[in-house]
Amino acid sequence: MDSMPFSQSCENNKDFILEVLREAFADRRQVLEIASGTGQHACHFAGAMHWLQWQPTELAQNLPVLEPRCRAYEGANLLPPAALDVRAEPWSIVVPDALFSANSLHIMAFSAVEQLFAALAGAAASDTLLAVYGPFNYGGQYTSASNARFDQWLAQQHPDSAIRDFEAVDALARGAGFSIQADHEMPANNRLLLWRKA
Ligand SMILES: C[S@@+](CC[C@H](N)C(=O)[O-])C[C@H]1O[C@@H](n2cnc3c(N)ncnc32)[C@H](O)[C@@H]1O
Repeated sequence: MDSMPFSQSCENNKDFILEVLREAFADRRQVLEIASGTGQHACHFAGAMHWLQWQPTELAQNLPVLEPRCRAYEGANLLPPAALDVRAEPWSIVVPDALFSANSLHIMAFSAVEQLFAALAGAAASDTLLAVYGPFNYGGQYTSASNARFDQWLAQQHPDSAIRDFEAVDALARGAGFSIQADHEMPANNRLLLWRKA
């Protein structure tokens, strides 16, 4: 376990996210996780919500980061990690009745966020839930000085990465047939947004 890829932020946020998902996903059957990273969220959430089948995914080149922890998962409700690039047209994976993604929209380019929602416009059925965790700006403003510093740091890592405007992402979601159900304030100036497809 110790040698596995590890994210401290996942450890810090996983129980706060779980508290919301446990209720939001109470009537769901399967979750497609986009950009699963180290798999800490996938294993924690699958382990705590046994009624769900959890499908972790990552960019093909990052699957070696995700696979070791998923292999070590003891239980039957974690599906083998699959390759998914949200820019793929069409997606090679079936979209189930729920989706989850953490800390991914500010990493991928905004054009990829657009492609994600374009894919969901076609592939997600009515009543699909989408839960997205991460930092967001509102009214063009940072919600904290630390998010402003984080955004500067992101820009240095990659010019396409940036904290997204909630309004811009919500407009894409609406264009794909989703409407916002909840916007939870989370620790460390993050949000957990929930959309439902009409
Ligand atoms: C900061 S990590 C977040 C990982 C994990 N969800 C977490 O909360 O720790 C961002 C992830 O987005 C993934 N990613 C970037 N572009 C992507 C794309 N076009 N499609 C799918 N995943 C992408 C990266 O591979 C990376 O693992």
